[in-house]
Amino acid sequence: MNSDKIKIAVLVSGGGTNLQALIDAQRDGGLRSGEIALVVSSNPGAYAINRAANAGIEAVTVCRKEMGDQFEAQLIRTLEKHQIEMIILAGFMSILSADFISHFTDRIINIHPSLIPSFCGKGMYGLHVHEAALAYGVKVSGATAHYVNEVTDGGKIILQKAVRVRQDDTPESLQKRIMKQAEWDILPRAAEQVAKKLRKEKRGGSRPATE
Ligand code: GRF
Repeated sequence: MNSDKIKIAVLVSGGGTNLQALIDAQRDGGLRSGEIALVVSSNPGAYAINRAANAGIEAVTVCRKEMGDQFEAQLIRTLEKHQIEMIILAGFMSILSADFISHFTDRIINIHPSLIPSFCGKGMYGLHVHEAALAYGVKVSGATAHYVNEVTDGGKIILQKAVRVRQDDTPESLQKRIMKQAEWDILPRAAEQVAKKLRKEKRGGSRPATE
């Protein structure tokens, strides 16, 4: 283990195909400035936990339902205990508060399944995003990897990739194609980009004042 690498936590709630893309990128050398040190699931039944186990990555559950208003405090304790320096939201089904985000300013990224600023913000998750895109009649959709700030899906864009909408698309078929063609491609690349920047800052000793 190279201790100079940025310690990354991937936060998940479901199937974890984006987590898998990150694990594969780490194996193949696409993700090399950081290492996935921890997977945190908000749902004890998430298949993403099996993916972490198969890759030999520690996974913990911080259950939103069980923790109630202590959820974020417990998340922060878990991340700090593992000395996490960067967070990737990969299908994490909870909106994080401004207070939580302030603990990790410019160190949290998210993948969203549309071309932001279209079809994003509150209520735009899962199939809702693709239903809205089809209802509007857009001919192109895609995915966006972006920094997380206190505005839902409002942080600075890191990478975007467009995907053509087909005339016979259903929300499900569009969701699948966007994941395959865009999300699994740009999320690992965005992760490397941010980890590289953070590592450079760490080496230069210019860590942000929030740390
Ligand atoms: C993806 O569509 C992602 O864009 C969204 O949630 C979904 C997660 O899927 N944020 P998976 O758990 O990575 O398979």
